[in-house]
Amino acid sequence: MDYQDLVNEAFEASKNAYVPYSEFPVGACVLLKNGQTIHGCNIENAAYGSTMCAERNAIFATYCQGYRQDDIVAIAIVADCTPLVSPCGACRQVLSQLLDPRTPVILGCKEFYEVTNMEELMPRMFIGDSL
Ligand code: THU
Repeated sequence: MDYQDLVNEAFEASKNAYVPYSEFPVGACVLLKNGQTIHGCNIENAAYGSTMCAERNAIFATYCQGYRQDDIVAIAIVADCTPLVSPCGACRQVLSQLLDPRTPVILGCKEFYEVTNMEELMPRMFIGDSL
């Protein structure tokens, strides 16, 4: 599976988004070394702060199934918009701990994608080493 396939799969995931408030579906897809993919989409709530983003749902689902960062090849995060969707602060905090800093993070729209990683998205990340 190449990055474009992963972007396409993340768009499939976005079809399950529950977005009555923003009407802004986001999809995410984690690709594992065993070839499996794990979907996430954003799920909103009338108490807006209780909304969960697509990429956190995808990475949490991955960990819930027992996988860890060494099992992950890449994650794609997509929305039908430009500029490209980019993880919110809370997602950056979570992903910076649950992904290897160099694992490819693919940010995609319908027309193109860019490849980045948590090292770029979250410089000087807090990952609890000092706790
Ligand atoms: N959202 C995500 O799911 N991921 C992002 O990277 C950006 C924002 C969601 C949260 C909310 O449901 C909607 O997009 C608008 O902010």
